[in-house]
Amino acid sequence: MDRTAQLIARPAEYTAVYDPTTSAGSLHLRAIEVLDGNWTGTSTVPSHGLYPHQWSWDSAFIAIGLRHVSPRRAQTELETLLDAQWGDGRIPHIVFNPSVPLDAYFPSPDFWRSVTAGRAAGAPRTVQTSGIVQPPVHALAAWLVHRADPGLSRARGFLARVYPRLAAWHRYLLHRRDLGGGGLVSVVHPWEQGMDNAPSWDAPLARIAPAPARSFRRADLAHGAPEDRPTDLDYGRYVRLATDYRDGEYADGRTDFAVEDPAFNALLIASEHALARIAEELGATGTARHARAQRLTAALVDRLWDPAEGLFFCRDLRGGGLIRERGVSGLVPLLLPGLSREIVSALVGTLRGPHFGVGATTRLAPSYDLLGEAFDPHRYWRGPAWCNTSWLVERGLRLHGERAHADALRAAVLDVADTSDFAEYVDPYTGEACGATGFSWTAALTLDLLHDTQAIQETQATHRLPHGTAFDRADSSFKGGDRG
Ligand code: SER
Repeated sequence: MDRTAQLIARPAEYTAVYDPTTSAGSLHLRAIEVLDGNWTGTSTVPSHGLYPHQWSWDSAFIAIGLRHVSPRRAQTELETLLDAQWGDGRIPHIVFNPSVPLDAYFPSPDFWRSVTAGRAAGAPRTVQTSGIVQPPVHALAAWLVHRADPGLSRARGFLARVYPRLAAWHRYLLHRRDLGGGGLVSVVHPWEQGMDNAPSWDAPLARIAPAPARSFRRADLAHGAPEDRPTDLDYGRYVRLATDYRDGEYADGRTDFAVEDPAFNALLIASEHALARIAEELGATGTARHARAQRLTAALVDRLWDPAEGLFFCRDLRGGGLIRERGVSGLVPLLLPGLSREIVSALVGTLRGPHFGVGATTRLAPSYDLLGEAFDPHRYWRGPAWCNTSWLVERGLRLHGERAHADALRAAVLDVADTSDFAEYVDPYTGEACGATGFSWTAALTLDLLHDTQAIQETQATHRLPHGTAFDRADSSFKGGDRG
C-alpha cells in the first residue's frame, strides 16, 4: 500500500467522506495528499517552500486534522514537537530540520542559537529550535487526538507521556509570562501570537528601532509574493526584538514588546480545559484546572473585553493600554464555554457586522477590520482570511448554538479550501489564494470539518457533556460518546 492509501484505510461508516467520486470525498482525498506530501517522516511542514521546518501551532492544527485519517501519525506529530521542549517548559515556535539548508528559511538556527543562548532556559542539546513560542493549541490537540482512537492512545501510553510536558508548558506560560500581573499571558514578539503583521502590533512595534536591512536576508520572498508578505520594515523590527530576546538568553520580563492577546489567551484557556479532561482520563482530578480556566476566562473579560465595541482587544503592557484595532484575534474567544450570553451575542453581532462582514460581504472571517485604515485584502494578517481562525470561530458558533451561522461558515471554509488549492490565506471577499498553496493546516482543518458532517447530524440528538466544548461535542459523536 502506498503512503496515501495507508492514510485513508479507515472504517466503512465514513463512506460519504471517503468516497472519492463525491465532491466531499474528492476534497478529502486531496487534503490527505497535501498532508502526505508535507510529511517528513516525523512531522509535517506547513509548506515545503515557505516554511520547511516544524512549526508549533501549525503542528497542533495538523494533528487535529490528521487524527481522522491516521491517529498514529497525529500522535507522532505532537510527540516530535514535544521532544524539542525546553527545560523551562516552553515549546519553541520552530523545530529545525537539520537536513534543510540554512539559507532555506530566515531566521535560521544560527540566528536563534538555541543550544548556547538557550542553555540557561534549558534548550535541548540535540535539536535546534527558535527561542520564542506560539499559541498553546497543543493540549487541545492532544485531547482530540486521543479521542479519535482511545484504544491506540492507551496502548501507546500517549496521554500519560504528553501530560507532564503539556502541564509544564502551561506552567511556563502562566508563571513566566504573566507580565502584566493580571493573570493573562503576554507574548514578547508578534511571531509568538502567530499573526505576525496584524495592525494591532503597529503601535507597540513603532517603538522598536528596526535592525538595519543589510544585517539579515529574508528567505520568504523567494516563495511568497512581496505584496502578500510583511514589509522589510516589519522584518527589521522582528529581527531586533528576536535578537534582543536571544542576547538576554531568552529570559522573560525584560522585553520591550509585551502584549496580552485575546486569541493566545483564549487558546490557553481552551487547552487548560482539555488538560483537565486529560487528567481525568488518567485517573486524576481535573477540577483545579477547570477552575483555573474559569478564572482565566474572567481575567480575559476583565482585561480585554470592550462591551461598547463588542470585541476583545489586545493590551499593550509597555504603552497605552488597550490597542483599539479590530482583529480576528478578538473574535477567537468565542470558542470558550464560560462566556456570558451577552458577550456571545455581541461577538456574533461583530462577526456578522460591517467590520468583519461574515455572512454578508466576506466569505471567511477577515484577519482585520474591513473598514480599518490598515486593511489590505492580500497582505498576510492585515486583512486576508485564514482557515485556522475561521475554524476556531466556527467551533465557537457551534458551541454556543449558532448552528445556522456555523453551518454557513463551515461550508464557506470547505469551498474556499477546495477552490484555492488549500491556500495559506485568501482574499476575504473573493477567496483568491494568497501565500503558499498546499498549506498543511488548511488541509488538516478541511479534514476536520469534513468529518464533522456526521457530528452535525448526530449531535442533534446527544446531550451536552459536562464542561463540554465545541470540540468535545463534535468528537464525542464519532465514538458514540465514549467519554472516559
Ligand atoms: N510566520 C513567520 C514567518 O512568516 C514565522 O513564524 O516566517
